[in-house]
Amino acid sequence: MLEELSDHLMDIAMNSVRAGAKNVGISVVADKSRNVLTVTIVDDGKGMDENMVRSVTDPFFSTKAGKRIGLGIPLLKGATEMCDGQFTLESKNGSGTRIRASFALDHPDLPPLGNVKETIFLLCVTNPGVRFRLRYRPDSEEFAFDTKEITDKLESVPINHPEVIGFLKRYLSENSCQERTCG
Ligand SMILES: Nc1ncnc2c1ncn2[C@@H]1O[C@H](COP(=O)(O)OP(=O)(O)OP(=O)(O)O)[C@@H](O)[C@H]1O
Ligand SMILES: [Mg+2]
Repeated sequence: MLEELSDHLMDIAMNSVRAGAKNVGISVVADKSRNVLTVTIVDDGKGMDENMVRSVTDPFFSTKAGKRIGLGIPLLKGATEMCDGQFTLESKNGSGTRIRASFALDHPDLPPLGNVKETIFLLCVTNPGVRFRLRYRPDSEEFAFDTKEITDKLESVPINHPEVIGFLKRYLSENSCQERTCG
């Protein structure tokens, strides 16, 4: 298990980027009444065929160059199982992938969320050609973010322009959420 849920998010979202996704949707939502924290990552990357979908939860499967061990997906799946949750992966060759991981909110082993907004910030500035959308509701307050809202205003200035980076960092750190748990 990785230390924080935002570390898992980074790995799974980078899988999407490596799969050629131009749109990556991330949602992190806590539902106290159902005692569930649900993390969903949806992309429009190249997807996987049925065999690959079966193989990716095996730690000895990776298509990264020079790598025979792929841990991102098995680690997230393992974390959900440890926290009485569920892991589902749906994917189609050519049309993208959806990963859903749930956790019991009150489970003692639930990893801390970490800084989800900082993770989105890093994803945006290191992958300027990708549209990231975030729906983040760790408690009663919801935060929504869409790269497109920023890039539309920027016109031809890239999102990783130094001045934009500073703005984006401030924007995303407002109302920063770094709770250890979602409780
Ligand atoms: N969103 C995705 N779209 C298409 N293929 C994917 C996606 N996510 C994972 N894969 C495939 O599944 C493999 C395993 O992913 P996983 O995250 O477990 O390991 P990895 O990315 O190869 O290595 P690591 O995460 O340990 O750096 C990837 O190498 C890639 O081939
Ligand atoms: Mg990975």
